[in-house]
Amino acid sequence: MKCIRSEIIGHGHYLPAKELTNDDLAQMVDTNDEWISTRTGIKSRHVAAEEEYTSDLAVNAAQMAVKTAGISVEEIDVVILATVTPDNTTPATSAKISARLGVKEGTPAFDISAACSGFVYALTMADNMIRLGQAKTALVVSAETLSKITDWTDRNTCVLFGDGAGAVVLRACEGEGTSADTGILATKIYADGSQYDNLRTTGGVSTSQNAGYIWMNGKEVFKFAINGLTQAAEEVMAMGNVKAENIDWLIPHQANIRIISGVGQKLGLPDEKVVVTIDHQANTSAATIPLALSEYMEAGKIKKGDLVVLNAMGAGFTWGGALVRI
Ligand code: UT7
Repeated sequence: MKCIRSEIIGHGHYLPAKELTNDDLAQMVDTNDEWISTRTGIKSRHVAAEEEYTSDLAVNAAQMAVKTAGISVEEIDVVILATVTPDNTTPATSAKISARLGVKEGTPAFDISAACSGFVYALTMADNMIRLGQAKTALVVSAETLSKITDWTDRNTCVLFGDGAGAVVLRACEGEGTSADTGILATKIYADGSQYDNLRTTGGVSTSQNAGYIWMNGKEVFKFAINGLTQAAEEVMAMGNVKAENIDWLIPHQANIRIISGVGQKLGLPDEKVVVTIDHQANTSAATIPLALSEYMEAGKIKKGDLVVLNAMGAGFTWGGALVRI
């Protein structure tokens, strides 16, 4: 049956210039490259300059996405940013991004706060708007400057995070309602607020009047992540009526190589189908998936027609997945 689908027609990414290696971190806290590499898979991460904001990273990624889409910014009908590190508490950073890109006046723009699941949440919202006919072209951006809410004296957390941004442009297209269609074939998002305290900042506007630093119960997050990521992937594959052997690529949220490998194995996917960028980017929260997608598309690894599963898990807890044919 004919239906409207949201096709990914453009992709973009941006990493700040400054790189911080594990050896650099070993000069700052009691850690070493061996511990970080074997426990997390991270070798280095990018860190924004003092006066480089989430909006700056986002605008760079968005400009690349608009360029690769081959559209003009006037064609954008909605701008959605997923972030937990907005420039200001209010207004939404997406409004600033819209203005800087030159998006036409009056175009809706809003931020989504779903931590590491932010991209999957934002993609779901954009896809819903497109399928409802409320937008024809959507810009979805994920951008984070986690370095600004990282306690650089805490070795338990400071080795894990990085800064970066990724973006996609979605455009309405017609599908046949089958898994052979191009575009977003299924999405599923979840939350469990009983896990609120296991991964959070130590402060916030209403509680402490400052942003606080990222804190987590690593072991609880780790356990939940493997199950949540697997559940999300299995559910979107079932919704799209495809099996693991049909999948060309899994793009999991990049939080820990052991979680990434564990999920790949649980889904029965060979290592070469599982996208890994954590080694040079670390965990950039909402940005890991669009960053990885754009890097792999730019390198010609992920190609038109490929069937891709995206899945993420993060604070809230939130988690979710999407099945997409590129
Ligand atoms: O993006 C949202 C999702 N986030 C995640 O999915 C993160 C999930 N959790 C994890 O990835 C892992 O739990 C961590 C990487 C955070 C921690 O790994 P772990 O294997 O669970 O280590 P641990 O916390 O049990 O720590 C083991 C030891 C401890 O020492 P003792 O108590 O055994 O003497 C830590 O103090 O490693 C120590 N340690 C470190 N040593 C060197 C913790 N951090 C470091 C460090 N360098 N940076």
